[in-house]
Amino acid sequence: MDPQGSEREPGAPTRGDRGSLRILAVAVQKGGTGKTTLAASLAVAAAEAGERVAALDLDPQGSLAGWGALRSGDAVAVDRIQPWEIGQLAEILGVLAEEGRTLAVLDTAGSSAGLAPALKDADFVLMPVRPSRLDIVAARPTLQILMDVGLRGRFALVLNQCPAPPSPRTSAYASQLRALGVLADPGIIHRVDHQDALATGLGVTEYAPASPAADEIRALWTWIDAKMRATEAR
Ligand SMILES: Nc1ncnc2c1ncn2[C@@H]1O[C@H](COP(=O)(O)OP(=O)(O)O)[C@@H](O)[C@H]1O
Ligand SMILES: [Mg+2]
Repeated sequence: MDPQGSEREPGAPTRGDRGSLRILAVAVQKGGTGKTTLAASLAVAAAEAGERVAALDLDPQGSLAGWGALRSGDAVAVDRIQPWEIGQLAEILGVLAEEGRTLAVLDTAGSSAGLAPALKDADFVLMPVRPSRLDIVAARPTLQILMDVGLRGRFALVLNQCPAPPSPRTSAYASQLRALGVLADPGIIHRVDHQDALATGLGVTEYAPASPAADEIRALWTWIDAKMRATEAR
């Protein structure tokens, strides 16, 4: 694996006719790492930063769609993609582009089912992992799919649910992943604001705008946005 590589593989899918719509998939083949939590709050933070955001729930569990049902207002359009609709994802994204959306955030299931089609259409893939060996090892099959669909250089792991610093273990994992060039910045600390925000249909930047949790999410969106623009430009 050459995680620093930047080009899509020869013959890999191209963006197609999606105008200015960018696709951020949040994916890793393990449950409970924080995909839905980060997808929801990043979608809101991106909207606050001026993106026209659609958040699509590809997980049959429907947690993101349930969050969306609690929301009022239209800052983020939340929709559910059923398993039998995943084959039409490219068309669905095309419609979002026509509607003038600029960012689609795809929340995915913690299993391999339906993952490859979602990742194939992504411009960037964020993989939340907790700072534990089991989570990081469990990310390997997803990394393999990313390589297979030609997304080399267009993904990053984010350490989520980190213990409050100082945490030597978290720092050690961060150093390893940073050395491989696959670490998103900053890591996200375990904070109840994330849980309370999701429970009330809010992003954490809406729920507690002045909190450290909100600051981390805004910083993570800024990092992802810059990374997506940098890889687009290549
Ligand atoms: N940064 C965080 N701080 C506190 N709790 C978190 C954080 N990220 C996720 N959680 C909690 O961890 C659990 C799993 O998160 P979830 O987003 O549902 O993961 P996934 O979608 O990967 O299965 C939930 O109870 C969620 O509230
Ligand atoms: Mg989930």
